[in-house]
Amino acid sequence: MKKHVELFKVTQNRRINAEYMILHVASENKLPEILPGQFVEIKVENGPNTFLRRPISIHEVDHDKNEIILLIQEVGEGTQLMAKLQPGDDLDMIYPLGNSFTTEGIKKAVLVGGGVGVAPMLILGRELKAKGVTPYFLLGARNSEILMDLDEYLKINEVGVTTEDGSQGIKGFVTDHSLLNEQLADMDMVYTCGPDPMMRAVAAKAKEAGVDCEVSLENMMACGFGACLCCVVDTLGGNKCTCTEGPVFNTKELKGW
Ligand SMILES: Cc1cc2nc3c(=O)[nH]c(=O)nc-3n(C[C@H](O)[C@H](O)[C@H](O)COP(=O)(O)OP(=O)(O)OC[C@H]3O[C@@H](n4cnc5c(N)ncnc54)[C@H](O)[C@@H]3O)c2cc1C
Ligand code: FES
Repeated sequence: MKKHVELFKVTQNRRINAEYMILHVASENKLPEILPGQFVEIKVENGPNTFLRRPISIHEVDHDKNEIILLIQEVGEGTQLMAKLQPGDDLDMIYPLGNSFTTEGIKKAVLVGGGVGVAPMLILGRELKAKGVTPYFLLGARNSEILMDLDEYLKINEVGVTTEDGSQGIKGFVTDHSLLNEQLADMDMVYTCGPDPMMRAVAAKAKEAGVDCEVSLENMMACGFGACLCCVVDTLGGNKCTCTEGPVFNTKELKGW
């Protein structure tokens, strides 16, 4: 798939809670095909410590407006600078990067997102629904204050929610939800993205139930196109670059999962 380096225009930057914002960026050109699970590498201007591009998952794509929509959590200098972007500002991005989630041959699937790992689950849920698959979302957060607005997910299908403090949905971790305990054997696939311990716990549940599990790994990245080898992951087929051969892997391929 051809990669593009392009200057996008910010059209909207909406803060949705204390930690997250939704950034809309538009291209002057017709967007190419973009698959669920792919990501962009953003060049952050004006930061003394932001020489390396920052990888961000594609949350949604609006092909009518030629817009890519990103869900960004402010964690450090790069993402703080992204939070300051205003409509009309330029944003230099390389896209679409990485592989994608498997969407063929699936009838029922559970999509598990934790924290900012919910980002690729919206575009994935839309694609699955369009292909006639029933996607069940399971979204976890520390508390209701930083839980995503569920409206867009609910337009697609049911959403299970867990919060660590019990302020919304079931109290606890996503792995405490009945979707992963009582209904997993009915599913053809579990997709997950979020903190590493959460993905490992979800993968363990899937393994126990004999269901395939695809994880989107958030390894540290620099170049984003297979040149620096800083993002390698140990697989049964040897070391693989998360940026080009991932970020999505079936956990059956990953050593130690
Ligand atoms: C494939 C992929 C998809 C991602 N999708 C999203 C997303 O949709 N939304 C989102 O908010 N975040 C996402 N991230 C994480 C995001 O890249 C980091 O939070 C961001 O790079 C931090 O930059 P910073 O300058 O704000 O923070 P820094 O001060 O540089 O670092 C803060 C934290 O972010 C981690 N980090 C820093 N640089 C990178 C990097 N180049 N790659 C991975 N981790 C890094 C550091 O280990 C540290 O824990 C994704 C990461 C990957 C690899
Ligand atoms: S980030 Fe450079 S090889 Fe993957």
